[in-house]
Amino acid sequence: MKIICRLFFVFLVILTFAACSSTQSGNSKKTEQIQELKNVYNDYFLLGNIINNRYLRDPEYMEIITKHFNIVTAENEMKPDQLAPRERGGQYNFANADRLVNEMLAQNIKVHGHTLVWHKQTRAWMTQGTPEQVRQNLVNHINTVMAHYKGKIFSWDVVNEAVLERVNPGTNLNDWKIQLRNEEDSGWFRVLGSDYIELAFRTARAADPDVMLYYNDYNLNNSRKAQVVANMVKQLNDKYKSEGNTRNLIDGIGMQAHYNINTSAPQVRQSIELFISIGVKVDISELDVEIKIVGSNSFGTGKDSPTNESEQKLQAIKYAELFSVFMEYKEHIPRVSMWGIDDESSWKSMGNPCLWDNGFNLKQAFFAVADPSKFLIQ
Ligand code: XIL
Repeated sequence: MKIICRLFFVFLVILTFAACSSTQSGNSKKTEQIQELKNVYNDYFLLGNIINNRYLRDPEYMEIITKHFNIVTAENEMKPDQLAPRERGGQYNFANADRLVNEMLAQNIKVHGHTLVWHKQTRAWMTQGTPEQVRQNLVNHINTVMAHYKGKIFSWDVVNEAVLERVNPGTNLNDWKIQLRNEEDSGWFRVLGSDYIELAFRTARAADPDVMLYYNDYNLNNSRKAQVVANMVKQLNDKYKSEGNTRNLIDGIGMQAHYNINTSAPQVRQSIELFISIGVKVDISELDVEIKIVGSNSFGTGKDSPTNESEQKLQAIKYAELFSVFMEYKEHIPRVSMWGIDDESSWKSMGNPCLWDNGFNLKQAFFAVADPSKFLIQ
């Protein structure tokens, strides 16, 4: 009996030791023992991340993508400047994007299409010429790309970032047309005015009556900008339905969610509730949470701004708070996608915004996402 007790005690000690070595203190690389994030959220929403040509060639990235995520967005490869010809009338170049899309579908991973119409990463010729020519360019681009990928894409960002970064304070938020990126910023607006948004969605809806269509933007945790976007989407949907259509023209709003450790989760919740109240779906489309606020395209190595344990904890808490909110609205949120796997290759590398660090070690943020309520209690 004594021996059995002793053996049992040794067994317990070993178990405790094993459990401790895989806890949340410090970054750990024990990928084989950890939860598959996509399974944690199986009953809630699709869980996504980005894919690009570099990831596709790297087994370490691909292991993470296939293990933890069930939907991807091409980081750059499906943007207008990548697909559309260099000059008007030239050949579309689908090779790079096709490789990503086909490889992902073959692995049973869904693909979100990003993005059809944007003021950035677009060929110059597309927004040059007479209004009629530019209108034709917009329609042709949407038709060509959507026809090419018909049946392969789960949902599309039809228009990206059309509303001003900061909407004009003291102006009428109901008049969304005065809150759009204007002549200086958007080639589409310069030639077509505010009409290009409705034209883009109607063209996309006609190209594929069944696929989910999104308006995607950032700073939507700002209540004023959220109000403008809600008004725009509601007005376009109301008009479309008043013509006898039974479904929405715009199915959902993508909240990019480029956040930082000071972002207010209650404000994020407020915007989600506002969008739900106008009868559309909400995607969290490009989530990352910066530790140091360094801004867009602050490329670095992920080692450039070293972080300490307590900063990493704040980041993890923010991820946990946000996921707790997302989970509450699962009926309305089809997808939560993150914008980057690891801090080194993130577009905001110097802000260390990801779940994996620059050596692919799991950060505290990973464990926060793997079990938000447990993390918050601890
Ligand atoms: C970013 C990419 O991550 C970078 O590689 C690229 O240089 C610039 O664009 N909003 C979007 C995304 O909709 O397409 C952007 O992606 C990030 C901000």
